[in-house]
Amino acid sequence: MNSPHPSAADSPAPEPAPATTRTASTKRRRKATGALVIAAGLLGAGAIATAVVPEPQVATAQQDQAALIAEGKSIYDVACITCHGQNLQGVEDRGPSLVGVGAGSVYFQVHSGRMPAADNEAQAERKKPRYSEHQIVALAAYVDQYGGGPGIITNPDGTVAQESLRGVSGESRAEELARGGELFRLNCASCHNFTGRGGALSAGKYAPILDPANEQEIYQAMLTGPQNMPKFSDRQLTPDEKQDIIAYIKNADSKVSPGGYGLGGLGPVTEGVAMWLVGIVALIGATLWIGSRS
Ligand code: HEC
Ligand code: HEC
Repeated sequence: MNSPHPSAADSPAPEPAPATTRTASTKRRRKATGALVIAAGLLGAGAIATAVVPEPQVATAQQDQAALIAEGKSIYDVACITCHGQNLQGVEDRGPSLVGVGAGSVYFQVHSGRMPAADNEAQAERKKPRYSEHQIVALAAYVDQYGGGPGIITNPDGTVAQESLRGVSGESRAEELARGGELFRLNCASCHNFTGRGGALSAGKYAPILDPANEQEIYQAMLTGPQNMPKFSDRQLTPDEKQDIIAYIKNADSKVSPGGYGLGGLGPVTEGVAMWLVGIVALIGATLWIGSRS
């Protein structure tokens, strides 16, 4: 019954165990040293990198800028050149010179979808922008090379600011809105109406509703004066005053009609038409009623 040949597997094998432990611990030790070496290497590389980096960073920034301008040029050559010319000098009866208009004007025109304009447009219309934010910045960088006008306002991280251009303002919200409202009535309402709802100008042109414009667009519109709109230099309206006006336009309460019904906010004309329609309907009603009695 008892096994005459105990197999090797049954007997304890004292040798291998310590061997394994020994190799495991050496491995662990080797790993630790390896990690140390790598860490030291990284630290060293880091130190070298920090010591050396400033130069390459400047170089990359310049390369980035050059690449951006090249990208802008490639878009310009396809989408803008026919109307604004090879060297931005303008093309007679097609488009004005862009020399010196600056990045802000390009941002306003392209981000509001006005540019690229369609052929024979009486007034470049606001539309969905054709280009991405990045492409617009590239176009702006290219045009800006030919002489700069107002620039684009950027966030601290370098991206284009769409809102809160002023950051934290010192004055209270109420003060800001009151000043903005006053300045809006003085400078903008004659064309854009008191509620910022736009209005007709001569020769089929019009001042548009301001609701869709973002803060950067409003700011750049004031600085660059698109089409029939006057330019408001920083002497006419300080940057702070411009910000007050933007706050007023962007404040939802500013859009409340000052009196009467909304009627599209187009002022006396629509209101007159509405009253006329009501009157006519009443007159016709009365005539029919009198007619039906005889
Ligand atoms: C079909 C012709 C046409 C095309 C294409 C066109 N534009 Fe224009 N652009 C015009 C006209 C016309 C005006 C003047 C519009 C106005 O005053 O309302 C103008 C005005 C501008 C302005 C304002 C200039 C100023 O004085 O502030 C900028 C900036 C501009 N265009 C950029 C561009 C860019 C960038 C492109 C290409 C993406 C482009 N345009 C494509 C016709 C064109
Ligand atoms: C003399 C009339 C006139 C005055 C005054 C005027 N604007 Fe304009 N504004 C215009 C016209 C016209 C346009 C359309 C330009 C175009 O389509 O190229 C316009 C366009 C704009 C736009 C672009 C809106 C959009 O749809 O993208 C903004 C924003 C704007 N104006 C803000 C102002 C502000 C703020 C003031 C006052 C500081 C002001 N405007 C004063 C006539 C005027």
